[in-house]
Amino acid sequence: MIKIAPSLLSANFAYLKDEIDAIEKAKADWIHYDVMDGHFVPNISFGYSILKDVAKVTDMFLDVHLMISEPLKYVDHFIDSGASLIVFHIEAMKDQAQTQELIRKIKDRHVQVGISIKPDTPVTEIADYLELLDVVLVMSVEPGFGGQSFMPLALSKIKSLKNMRDHHQYHYLIEVDGGINAETGKLCKEAGADVMVAGSYVFNSDSYQESIASLK
Ligand code: DX5
Ligand code: ZN
Repeated sequence: MIKIAPSLLSANFAYLKDEIDAIEKAKADWIHYDVMDGHFVPNISFGYSILKDVAKVTDMFLDVHLMISEPLKYVDHFIDSGASLIVFHIEAMKDQAQTQELIRKIKDRHVQVGISIKPDTPVTEIADYLELLDVVLVMSVEPGFGGQSFMPLALSKIKSLKNMRDHHQYHYLIEVDGGINAETGKLCKEAGADVMVAGSYVFNSDSYQESIASLK
C-alpha cells in the first residue's frame, strides 16, 4: 500500500504536537519535514532544533527533506536530531565526489538516504547513485513553497525510475512531492510512486483522516 507523508510545512507551527498527533491518528505513514534555508530555495522554514523537539513527541518515521545549500555541512545536526531518512538535493552538490561523500556519511550513521531532483533535473543526473539509495524524491513543483500546482512531468520520471529499479533490481522507494491531491495522487500511484508527500491538501482539509484515506 502506498505511504502518505504529510508535510509539516503546512501545519500550524504553534500547535505542532497536536498536528503530529492528529496526522498519526489519521493514519499517516511518515512525517515529511521540509527544511528551507532561504538560499537554495527562496523561503525559510525550520531547522534541526525544531526537528529534535518533534522527534521527542513522536515515534513516526521522520522523512527530512533538505532544501538547503551545503547539506554536507549540516547533515550531522539533522541526524543527531532524530531524522529517520535524509533526502538532499542533487542540485546542491558541488561534484560527484562530494555526493558520494554525503551518501557515505549518512549511511555510516545508519540513517536512510535519498536524493531529490527538481522539475528541471533529469533522472539521468542521479543514475550513478541509484543503487545506493533508499529513496528517490521526485519534485512535482519547484521546491520552496507549499500549495503549488502539480507538474505532470513528474509522472514520466516516476515511470522511468520504476523501470530502472525493475531492470537493475535496485531497492529505493519512489517518493513524489508537490501539488498532491486525490486527483494528482491517483496519477502518481498509477505511475508507480511508493510514497506521496501532501502538505496543503491534508492540513487545509476539514478531516485529516478523510484526506489521507483519499490518497491511499
Ligand atoms: C515544497 C515542499 C513540499 C511542500 C508540499 O518545496 O518540498 O513538501 O510542503 O506542499 P503541497 O502538498 O501543498 O504542494
Ligand atoms: Zn518536501
